[in-house]
Amino acid sequence: MNQAAIHKILAGKPGSKPTPRKLTQLFEKRRGANFTLIQELFFSLYPETRHTASFKSLQKLLADGFKNRPAELKHQDLQRQGDGNWYQSGAWAGMQLYVDRFCGDLKKLKERIPYFEALGINFLHLMPITKRPSGPNDGGYAVNSYTEIDPRYGTDQDFISLTAAFREKGICLMLDFVVNHTSDEFPWALEAKAGNLKYQEYYYTFPDRNIPDLFEQSLPEVFPETAPGNFTFCPQMERWVMTVFNNYQWDLNYTNPAVFLSMLENLLELSNKGVDVIRFDALAFLWKKMGTTSQNLPEAHRLVALFRLCLQVVAPGVIILAEAIVAPDEIVAYFGKGILEGNECEIAYNATFMACLWNSVATKKTRLLRQSLGNLPPKPDPSTWINYVRCHDDIGLGFDDSHISALGWDPQTHRRFLLDYFCQRLDWSPAKGAVFMYNPFTGDGRITGSTASLLGLERALEEEDALKISSAEAKILMLYGIILAAPGIPLIYAGDEIGMLNDYSYMEEADKMMDSRWINRPIHDWDTVSGLSSEKNHASRIYFGLQHLIALRKQQPGLADVCSVHYHDSGNNHLLVFERDGETDNGILILANFDESPQVVRTALLGALGYMREGQFHNLIDGKTKKVRSGLLELPPAELLWLRKY
Ligand code: GLC
Repeated sequence: MNQAAIHKILAGKPGSKPTPRKLTQLFEKRRGANFTLIQELFFSLYPETRHTASFKSLQKLLADGFKNRPAELKHQDLQRQGDGNWYQSGAWAGMQLYVDRFCGDLKKLKERIPYFEALGINFLHLMPITKRPSGPNDGGYAVNSYTEIDPRYGTDQDFISLTAAFREKGICLMLDFVVNHTSDEFPWALEAKAGNLKYQEYYYTFPDRNIPDLFEQSLPEVFPETAPGNFTFCPQMERWVMTVFNNYQWDLNYTNPAVFLSMLENLLELSNKGVDVIRFDALAFLWKKMGTTSQNLPEAHRLVALFRLCLQVVAPGVIILAEAIVAPDEIVAYFGKGILEGNECEIAYNATFMACLWNSVATKKTRLLRQSLGNLPPKPDPSTWINYVRCHDDIGLGFDDSHISALGWDPQTHRRFLLDYFCQRLDWSPAKGAVFMYNPFTGDGRITGSTASLLGLERALEEEDALKISSAEAKILMLYGIILAAPGIPLIYAGDEIGMLNDYSYMEEADKMMDSRWINRPIHDWDTVSGLSSEKNHASRIYFGLQHLIALRKQQPGLADVCSVHYHDSGNNHLLVFERDGETDNGILILANFDESPQVVRTALLGALGYMREGQFHNLIDGKTKKVRSGLLELPPAELLWLRKY
């Protein structure tokens, strides 16, 4: 049983509108229930002998955080506690967007709520909206503030009013907490540059290259093309600063408890503004240790759990997403292991799923996908996934080498093939992607591009080839139809719902041209949106197809996260076949054909699983019952079926 489950029991049935006194009592119960773990985690990172005063400050932060939490949010917290693991419901459908590129600012975003409602979206990840440097800022991931809204998006009041509107409409809001680093213009960094020793200790700074050189021996590079190395010389300080990402993103020094406390204060303040899910950005990097890669270290996990347990005392309705795009075992570890099981993050990105989907697109085969998903380490019950086709970042090819070798492929050659397939190095490939962070020495690289362009829509439109256009549309709907049926929260990147293509304008902007991830962050095309109902084109077919799938997903109790998933070997390596909630009458069998030719599956398998009776099957997507006369069911290229159980 994790801490959240204990809190539920302690809360009992608080009644419809608990009094402030009752709310405070419940806060005290949560504080009591988490106290020992918090204390143990804190002193394991910051030894008791030196840091008792800091621990007292931590307790005060919790009390102040609760005092400052608006009553409305306190009530919502209790309601959520009563609703079980609310984030595991099958009713969520998410979208991710940059506010400026989507519609301009926060006020206009509020006016766009009907757009989300029409599509069925009720979970939004807004990319960073707090203050950032005016020059390069990594799409807002270099922060000048954790809580103040950047004027380009509006005012703090606009934000508060937006969160209130979202609450009223039942839209869940996810925002980033860039927990690993600040910009080099953040107030602490400015103090450090001015020679303030206290704030120099908020970062990893060194007078010469001795320690940095030792660190470099084992630290990988995140952005080798644009930000090689992990340290940057700061002339004002005359010191080297650790900058694992870009040279203007300074890594926070969490060995200093003052950093943890200041960041906790920021986290509580952000949560108290009405954010429901906090995306812990780059959390794998939180703890550094010489001689290691400084990723996924045990201390990083303890730190995340410490943040989690503190936040839970103040705001039990707010949950944390792990942004850890690492190996499958390492990702699952962010749900918490051992005594921390279920006490770290509630949600994590299913990056393995995403990468394997693209592998299947290129190879037209599904064994790697099936094996990787089937071998995913089990996650704790109270956790869930974000399933996505692509996000604002690149697509990394982080498969397990042993899985690739097991298929008889050489891992390095296979990765090169995938880069070639998606990044316009093969004449026959329909994909139009770009390479991100290519390393000529290793041949490694990552892929960028919008879903539609990677799946061939851009090329098909250029060639004005109706068949190819419809093949690309089918592939887009197939990939989204798969993640909509998978266990977890599906997340659509804004623009994919209308088949938006690559955006090449970043090549003309000085602070973006070196970062090809901007190719897949298009400016939303509202002209196309306005024609959706009247025009019959690729955009409207994709939009209405997706709208239908989202609505269908919400009607199927068997698709909620808590329902089982089973990946079947259909005997045909071109098909992905998986079943949700197969043990009950709500069972759904999902079939997808990744090949360019029709493929067949034995009807005996469908019958044995309970999805075919007397040669008939019912596809929920088109609502039709069909009869198969032979012993084989044929799926056209890129066909997606959701079969209902008989
Ligand atoms: C995360 C973000 C990415 C950003 C990086 C550094 O991975 O998704 O966009 O560049 O963190 O903050």
